[in-house]
Amino acid sequence: MAAWMVAGNWKMNNTTAEAVALAKEIVAGLPDIAGRGEVVLAPSFTVLGSVHDVIRGSNIALASQNIFFEDKGAYTGEISPAMLKDAGCTYAIIGHSERRKYFHETDEGVNLKTKKCLAVGLKPIVCVGETDEEREAGITEFVVGIQVKKALAGITDMADVTIAYEPVWAIGTGKNATPGQAEEVHGFIRNILRDLYKEASLNVRILYGGSVTAENFGELIAMKNINGALVGGASLKSGSFLGIISRALENGQ
Ligand code: PGA
Repeated sequence: MAAWMVAGNWKMNNTTAEAVALAKEIVAGLPDIAGRGEVVLAPSFTVLGSVHDVIRGSNIALASQNIFFEDKGAYTGEISPAMLKDAGCTYAIIGHSERRKYFHETDEGVNLKTKKCLAVGLKPIVCVGETDEEREAGITEFVVGIQVKKALAGITDMADVTIAYEPVWAIGTGKNATPGQAEEVHGFIRNILRDLYKEASLNVRILYGGSVTAENFGELIAMKNINGALVGGASLKSGSFLGIISRALENGQ
């Protein structure tokens, strides 16, 4: 199994001064994670370069919160994977539920973006997850299954792909999935990956996201198929984010 990952998704927060201050605090407080796991920060596009300067030489990697799937050209307002690599990114978050909800991203678009990341050497963190209504209707596995299969259509090598299971009802609500609820879906995703990629599926990280805190993450990361976290709100304060990293060090595989 690949080492755990704790990724902080800062969403649309932090000016340059705020982002640099937060990144400095995280670098200063980061325990020795070498060989144990990975820590990733996903700031806004405008501060990628500034945050990259702060984390240079540390064990922290940089991610973007989105990409566009074309290389260059007349796409006003979009940012290509090559530009993000150039800004210092190793990872890119793809298909976050907020992108799907507010910007009408589709499974097909998520697939194009995932493939483009891999083509240019950026590692995608592909987000999937059901809404409250879908869970209530008992179609969680149906919905997540389609999202996973469509996102990965045509992808044969999963070595650089991370999946993030983020139930929409748990994002920013303070209502995290219980370790049992999360593990059930993570195990389901693992089975899909096993069908598609056989033994290689065991090395694919499946992160949990949705109201992760230092208080609830110890139990989540102890589950067999939970290999880390994609953290929103609790990544905006160094204390809570470092606390989550400590739980991963204590209980992560
Ligand atoms: P949250 O967000 O931790 O604030 O729930 C998680 C995410 O959207 O990645």
